[in-house]
Amino acid sequence: MFRDDFVWGVASSAYQVEGTDPVNVRGKCIWDTFSEENPINTKGGNGLVACDHMHRYKEDFAMMKELGIKAYRFSVNWCRIIPDGVGEVSEEGVAFYRDLILSMKENGITPYLTLYHWDLPQALEDKGGWVNPEIVDWFGNYARVIAERFSDLVEYFFTINEPQCVIGLGYVVGVHAPGKKLGYKETTLASVNLLKAHGTAVLALRRYSVRPVKIGYAPTCTIPIPASDSPEDIEAAKKKYFSITKNTWDWAWTVAWFSDPVLLGKFPEDSLELFRGEMPEITEDDLKLMHQPIDFLGQNIYNGYYIKAGENGEPVDVMKYPGYQETGVHWPIMEECLYWGARFAYERYKLPIFITENGMACHDAISLDGKVHDPNRVDFLDRYLSALQQAVDDGVDVRGYFLWSVMDNFEWDQGYHGRFGIVYTDFVTLKRIPKDSAYWYKEIMESNGAKLAVNNGLWVRSARWHQEESSNLCKSK
Ligand code: FCB
Repeated sequence: MFRDDFVWGVASSAYQVEGTDPVNVRGKCIWDTFSEENPINTKGGNGLVACDHMHRYKEDFAMMKELGIKAYRFSVNWCRIIPDGVGEVSEEGVAFYRDLILSMKENGITPYLTLYHWDLPQALEDKGGWVNPEIVDWFGNYARVIAERFSDLVEYFFTINEPQCVIGLGYVVGVHAPGKKLGYKETTLASVNLLKAHGTAVLALRRYSVRPVKIGYAPTCTIPIPASDSPEDIEAAKKKYFSITKNTWDWAWTVAWFSDPVLLGKFPEDSLELFRGEMPEITEDDLKLMHQPIDFLGQNIYNGYYIKAGENGEPVDVMKYPGYQETGVHWPIMEECLYWGARFAYERYKLPIFITENGMACHDAISLDGKVHDPNRVDFLDRYLSALQQAVDDGVDVRGYFLWSVMDNFEWDQGYHGRFGIVYTDFVTLKRIPKDSAYWYKEIMESNGAKLAVNNGLWVRSARWHQEESSNLCKSK
């Protein structure tokens, strides 16, 4: 069972929900540019209006209260606080977020603030963005402002959301802002800058906050799932989870590259080997900076793939079964990823874990009865949360879960086409309609998970795999 003080929450990010205001103007960020330059980049969507949360947060928090939500992972848009990324602080921007946080708290919702969820000020991108080593100081300065202006109201912070996407999708393959396709030299440098920026932010948050604060980091990954419970398959999946491959698409999509320096104070051996001659010089002081003590690991987990032990125990991919279930954005549905993702991360890093994001995009629509029925999402969440509870039952220290997302919002390169919310957003009228899953999640939160399938004999870990295996639907590649 989950701990009595388990944190049940929901998540979102600034750019995806806030929208803009003609008077309370913020600085331009890379997603404004990316969506303007070529609307195809974001399927015609942009952050101009989004959910208009910046004008509706009071109603939104009142609705969240009704839905039993007590914790909210949200982010601050860097260029709303410091429009050019460095220099003058926008007092209007600070006042906006202070009021937003106060309103959240008035509704009994605890804030979990992420400093960076991808809205890099364009002015900094113009100077090279994450590739410019000066970003370490730029980000440290921003973290100081966050600490000074918000730590009286906020106790929990996350530094950077999904470094894999920041560097991999933004600078390696270019499907996210700023849409660059750079080589290994520049992108390993950008990664090192990001890791140092994280460390600098931790130092600034501790130093300038008005009280002791708790800090985490929120990386992501696709999880290798052992194809069976044999120790060999488990070992092979674990090996895969922490390994790195020199492949344009894949290399930045790794766990150890972005988490080992932060949590173990060193880069994984295989990465040093792989990027020999292409990585920037890294000193002992750099490693020390990256390795600032943090209080918990945030981990965003959505899906995975099967791995078995091949000859010599080396990881070998195993095909998914034909017609496997997938979400509205074609991500495979594999709840075991929450079990193995949490377990592997805990075994290696030994820090309490928050699942900082997990959820599902569906092709939701308003039915004739005026409601939004999303049985697929309820089923998804029941399976994933059951798997998470199983990890807890097996000794993994999981402290909380933030469902992505509180409401449908701007889904980056998918524009408005990936509906991840448990609340439906009508993007024409901006009306919110809680989906069936929101009411279901309320009951789960209230019962601290007692109503989950795993506690009612309806879900057993790996049941699906073995079932498929026995009917011989899964074949080795
Ligand atoms: C994650 C992002 C989040 C959202 C979800 C669906 O990678 O952190 O902003 O887009 O995926």
